Amino acid sequence: MNNSVKPWGGRFKKGTDRKVEEFTQSIHFDRRLFRYDIEGSLAHARMLGKQGIISADEERSIRKGLHAIRKEMEAGSFIFDIKDEDIHMAIEKALIQRSGKAGEKLHTGRSRNDQVVLDVRLYLRDEIKNLLKLLKDLKRGLLEAAKREITTIMPGYTHLQKAQPVLLSHYLLSFWEMFDRDEQRFKDCQKRVNVLPLGAAALAGTSLPLDRNYVARLLKFPAVSRNSMDTVADRDFIAEFIFSASVVMMHMSRFCEDLVIWSSNEFHYVEISDAFTTGSSIMPQKKNPDVAELIRGKTGRVYGHLMAMLTILKGLPMTYNRDLQEDKEPLFDTLDTVTSSVEILTGMLSQITFQRERMEQEAGRDFSTATDIAEYLVQKGIAFREAHGIVGRIVEYCLDNRKELSKLTLPEFRKFHAQFDKDVIARLQPANSVNLRKTIGGTSLVMVEERIADIEKTS
Ligand code: ARG
Repeated sequence: MNNSVKPWGGRFKKGTDRKVEEFTQSIHFDRRLFRYDIEGSLAHARMLGKQGIISADEERSIRKGLHAIRKEMEAGSFIFDIKDEDIHMAIEKALIQRSGKAGEKLHTGRSRNDQVVLDVRLYLRDEIKNLLKLLKDLKRGLLEAAKREITTIMPGYTHLQKAQPVLLSHYLLSFWEMFDRDEQRFKDCQKRVNVLPLGAAALAGTSLPLDRNYVARLLKFPAVSRNSMDTVADRDFIAEFIFSASVVMMHMSRFCEDLVIWSSNEFHYVEISDAFTTGSSIMPQKKNPDVAELIRGKTGRVYGHLMAMLTILKGLPMTYNRDLQEDKEPLFDTLDTVTSSVEILTGMLSQITFQRERMEQEAGRDFSTATDIAEYLVQKGIAFREAHGIVGRIVEYCLDNRKELSKLTLPEFRKFHAQFDKDVIARLQPANSVNLRKTIGGTSLVMVEERIADIEKTS
């Protein structure tokens, strides 16, 4: 078979090798763009009609054909064939079969190079909207949990060593802040996705009188790309999106890591609902935090997609090169991964039980209020470095005598400094330790309540 059946087959004498056909086709993954390809073609045809490049009859016939193809694709009855190479050519071929000569005019003033970027931009624009909604749900879930756990005290960690008591609500809101920044990043990325590429044609624009502003209005693009060469070569918006997705994955992964640790018997700070855990095929007692582990694990594959995208772009001569077809699988898989991960984390969060008593009990242990004692001495006029040394010796004394800080008596404190008074005992209470930290952004109840009020006012 020669290639005269291919839309680009005019100059070819020989048919494509079957293996090459298999190797170069993208239809098995870019078919997910079909709705956007048709939406773009409908707008392009309408513009061609308005400009008198095609007749009103031809435009009508194209429109009818495209609507029918969309129906078939939605119903799943359309037969995709790898011989058609990609979704753009599959739709064009089907249109020509239906609408004949009129169908042959659809590709006027257009190249697959600008068409494919249009499809991806339309698709990604919708997907980002959806993702923004899911992120809002996750943030709402964190806010609700923070409100439920408003006064719960937990040990705060640095280096995974008990550091200072904090409010669990403060901890939960720290993730709210991260996902809030993620939301802003996606909104910003959306601005650069939302630019019309159609009309750049292959790389240089066209001599035909296209009305790009009209197409932009039809497709609700607030901007039209300004350089046809950049337009067909640019995939920054995809790299940027995958980067933003990588950061969300990283944030979720850190949260999940805490949940994995906290759900161990050794910590036992949380109980993840049965609905979000799985068992072991051999050990009957096991209830594993697999969902949290999988979100953590899937972060790696999204980072991989970011590397793939950046690497695809780095050595490309201007302008379009077929390498760019490799942008889609990383993008699609990133979208599938980040969307399902955000959704599932929101569900898991809504069904987590925090073991309040256990957290509070642990919050006061292992010298977590040592800094409070040092600050207590500072308030009595002692220099911080000296106070640090005094409390260090108190800790050493406790370790030697196997005592918790909270078990020390006033006479024992006095042995280390005469300025200790009976109010030092109250400072050892985790609740006091927490509530005295009233600096802006600190963990005291007043500060956390203020932040919650602020969030509720602005979102
Ligand atoms: N399937 C191609 C892609 O995804 C469409 C553009 C093809 N253009 C070309 N000049 N071969 O990039």
